[in-house]
Amino acid sequence: MTGPADATALLLSRVRDVPDHPEPGVVFKDITPLLADPAAFTALTDALAEISLRHGATKIVGLEARGFILGAPAAVRAGLGFIPVRKAGKLPGATLSQSYDLEYGTAEIEVHAEDLTAADRVMVIDDVLATGGTAEASLRLIRRAGAEVAGVAVLMEIGFLGGRARLEPALDGAPLEALLKV
Ligand code: PRP
Ligand code: MG
Repeated sequence: MTGPADATALLLSRVRDVPDHPEPGVVFKDITPLLADPAAFTALTDALAEISLRHGATKIVGLEARGFILGAPAAVRAGLGFIPVRKAGKLPGATLSQSYDLEYGTAEIEVHAEDLTAADRVMVIDDVLATGGTAEASLRLIRRAGAEVAGVAVLMEIGFLGGRARLEPALDGAPLEALLKV
């Protein structure tokens, strides 16, 4: 690999389209081929770590579950702490919770209240930005904890679902960086 364009091509080549999953008409973006390729996974980890440091993050938040897979190695690479934002009911300590709307029904995510403070500047990492609901809820959690948002970094942004526009108010000027736009 010699440059960013090569890295992008490598990442794109390791994402598999799975038609009609999890339901008819949906094309699922499967990142497991990328995770299984050490060169691609390293390029992705390096890119996410570089984005986090460039925007002055002091901590990385990963969104369960696939955001854990990408966010944890990026945090180690960048020398930053990793904070898990989990689906409701999993964290044992005192939590802050945030619910958000899905196409049908609602979902809820949580963070340990003590993990984020006013001294923190947080980069949120996830695999995919689709409707933006999950990332938006995570930004609310971070701000409710009193911390600052450094930005959101994702492997893939699915443009036609409008997540970027939905996220804009919650970003409040912070950057949304997508390595691939699909
Ligand atoms: C998926 C994906 C993102 C989110 C994006 O997570 O990993 O976190 O949806 O969708 P949105 O922008 O519309 O909120 P999901 O909870 O489906 O599964 P996971 O636990 O495998 O990450
Ligand atoms: Mg997810």
